[in-house]
Amino acid sequence: MTENPLNPLKAPVAAEAARADSRPVKTPGALAGAAPGPASSVDKAVIRLEGLHKTYHLGETEVFALRGVSLEIFAGEFVAVMGSSGSGKSTLMNILGCLDKPTRGHYFLEDVEVSGYSKAQLAGLRNRKIGFVFQQFNLLSRTSALENVELPTVYAGLPVEEREKRARESLALVGLADRAEHHPSQLSGGQQQRVAIARALVNRPSIVLADEPTGNLDSRTSVEIMDIFQKLNTDHGITVVLVTHEQDIAQYAKRIMEFRDGRMRRDVAVTGRLFASEVLPTLPTLEEENKEDNVQASPNLGNRS
Ligand SMILES: Nc1ncnc2c1ncn2[C@@H]1O[C@H](COP(=O)(O)OP(=O)(O)OP(=O)(O)O)[C@@H](O)[C@H]1O
Ligand SMILES: [Mg+2]
Repeated sequence: MTENPLNPLKAPVAAEAARADSRPVKTPGALAGAAPGPASSVDKAVIRLEGLHKTYHLGETEVFALRGVSLEIFAGEFVAVMGSSGSGKSTLMNILGCLDKPTRGHYFLEDVEVSGYSKAQLAGLRNRKIGFVFQQFNLLSRTSALENVELPTVYAGLPVEEREKRARESLALVGLADRAEHHPSQLSGGQQQRVAIARALVNRPSIVLADEPTGNLDSRTSVEIMDIFQKLNTDHGITVVLVTHEQDIAQYAKRIMEFRDGRMRRDVAVTGRLFASEVLPTLPTLEEENKEDNVQASPNLGNRS
C-alpha cells in the first residue's frame, strides 16, 4: 500500500478511484427513500445534502438561490457542476465549502451534520477538511507564493518548521517549486492559479472545491489546471467538485451535475471522459500560438508603408 503524502488517511486511492469510475451515478431521486444498492455499504458519501435551501434577503426581496437540493458525492469522485449564470452553483459551493450556511435542509460532511454549525465551527472544519479554489485566485499580492501557500497552516496552528515544509511540498505538487519566492504579479495567470491550488492543498484536505478555476485562463492553461485536478483525484484520492461553464472542461470530470433555478436538473456520468495528460501534447504551446499569430498578422504589415 502506498502512502499518500497529501492525505495519509486515504492511502488505497487507486482502488477507490477505480470504484468511483465504475459506480453508476445516483440520481437525486435515488437519495430519498430508495433501497441502498450494493455499492452503498462500501462507499462513503463524503458530502450528502438533503432538501437544502438557501434564501438571500435583499431588503424586501427574497432570492431563492437553492430550492431543495439533495445529492451525494462519494470519496474519490470528480464532479463538474454546470448551469447557467444565477442557477445557484456558487451558492452551493460556498455551502459545501463551509463558507456559508444553508437557510434550511441538511448538510452532512463525512456523516456529520454541519448545517447547524456556528461560523467558527465551520471555519475550523473547512481548514481541516476542505481546500477551496476561486476563479480570481484570491492571492495576497504583497506576499510570496510560499507565504500565500503557508497561510492556512498558520490558522491550523501548525508548528513553524512544519508550515514551510508543507508549503514547499504543496508548491512542488503543482509544479512550482522553483517559484516559491515570486510574488503574484511576477507569475502568469496559470501559475497564480497553481499557487492557489497549492494553498488549497496545504492542510491536506480530503475534498477540493473549485468555483470556475479556469474561468480566467486561456484554453491550454485551463487544460494544465485540469491535469493537476485529475492527478490530485487519481493519484492522491482527493474528491474534487468543480464549477465550470464550459462543456469541454466538464469532460475531464467523472460526473456532471447540472443546475437550473436553484435545483439540480441533471446528474449524469461523463461518457468519453477526457484526460488532460493525453490532451496536452496535442495542444500548441504558447510560443507556437504566438508564432501563428505573427504569421497571420504579417500580411497587414506590408500595407502600412
Ligand atoms: N450574497 C447574495 N445576496 C443576494 N443574492 C445573492 C447573493 N449571492 C447570490 N445571490 C443570488 O442568488 C442566485 C444564485 O447565485 P449564484 O452566485 O449561486 O449563481 P451562479 O450559478 O454561481 O452564477 P454564475 O455562473 O454567474 O457564477 C442569483 O440569483 C444571485 O443573484
Ligand atoms: Mg458563480
